[in-house]
Amino acid sequence: MLVDCIDLDALEQEARRVMRPESWVFCDTGADDEITAGENIAAWRALKLRPRVLRDIVDIDTGVTLLGEKVGTPIMVAPTGRHHLFHAEGERATARGSAAAGALYVMSTSGATLVEDVAKERGRAPQWFQLYMQPDREATGALLDRCVKAGFKALVLTADQPVPGWSPRAYRTPVIASEKIRSVNMVGQPVARTAYDPDRKGIVMFPTNFSDLEWLVKRCAMPVVVKGVLRGDDAKRCVDCGAKAIMVSNHGGRHLDTTVTTAEVIAEVADAVGRNAEVYVDGGIRRGTDIVKALALGARAVLVGRPPLWGLSVSGAAGVQAVMQHLHDEMIRAMQLCGASNLAALTPDLVKV
Ligand SMILES: Cc1cc2nc3c(=O)[nH]c(=O)nc-3n(C[C@H](O)[C@H](O)[C@H](O)COP(=O)(O)O)c2cc1C
Repeated sequence: MLVDCIDLDALEQEARRVMRPESWVFCDTGADDEITAGENIAAWRALKLRPRVLRDIVDIDTGVTLLGEKVGTPIMVAPTGRHHLFHAEGERATARGSAAAGALYVMSTSGATLVEDVAKERGRAPQWFQLYMQPDREATGALLDRCVKAGFKALVLTADQPVPGWSPRAYRTPVIASEKIRSVNMVGQPVARTAYDPDRKGIVMFPTNFSDLEWLVKRCAMPVVVKGVLRGDDAKRCVDCGAKAIMVSNHGGRHLDTTVTTAEVIAEVADAVGRNAEVYVDGGIRRGTDIVKALALGARAVLVGRPPLWGLSVSGAAGVQAVMQHLHDEMIRAMQLCGASNLAALTPDLVKV
């Protein structure tokens, strides 16, 4: 099927049409009143660019090194769970499609595909693994060793979901727990219930604190990234504990509603961390101009969560590839129109704050 990426709005509508209603709601929803989910998008759009003119912009270099891995684009696929809700091939299709676009893929803990099988789809493209810290440290350590052996290059610890948020919309149109979404890499391989399942209400699923982070940094042979940070002081503390990178994220507004948007805090976190760690950002990035703004304000790379899932549901691996390529092409055009020929030229003065 042809993937319409003229803008991502058309693709989103097509994805909504082809998905089962409960899959669509799981993908689209935010927590509570869904305020943050919408504001993330609006916040990038509200920032104004201050383009430079009369610069050499014929040859554009979008290459970047992410924790030592060279990639051709600073746009990564964010960790999202349960890809079998969106396509029969699940995470394998996402892994293959994003590799074809040259994009780094962060695989989620919550999926029905083995880490080894995802790795096989990646060829030479790098992949990272996202972890929800499980209380059983021995089993967590064994999973990390499997990731290293399979060729994963970094570990992303998600810190912003110790308890699940609540989505009235997902409660009304629930995903029913089933084999096809079993979290096969998790300890005990529980049959998947999404975070919004009423059975999970009030349960501290992933209690994680700074000592756990220190343990993880020591135990893990891969560099550790902390995802879900929204404050400069927290970012600094994570780096003091040994984190090599920070992902500024509010989880796409899916757990705590009415947080600050990521566009509002990327500069604060980048300033706090300075040169001591890399900083990335996600949440509401839908346009090349959003990416240019994020990089200008201090992010080394960005991640997108929902858009690759729209591509996945409409056209499998080819859909994921089309979405990532589309965003990359838009970013290049925005760079050229801003007078920037490489990522180093994206500096804070390009954005009016
Ligand atoms: C369907 C879905 C599932 C997600 N699952 C995870 C997950 O398993 N682990 C995680 O750290 N973040 C998860 N996220 C959050 C994303 O990694 C990312 O922070 C967010 O989607 C970025 O916002 P965007 O969708 O507006 O691009 C999920 C997001 C969505 C939409």
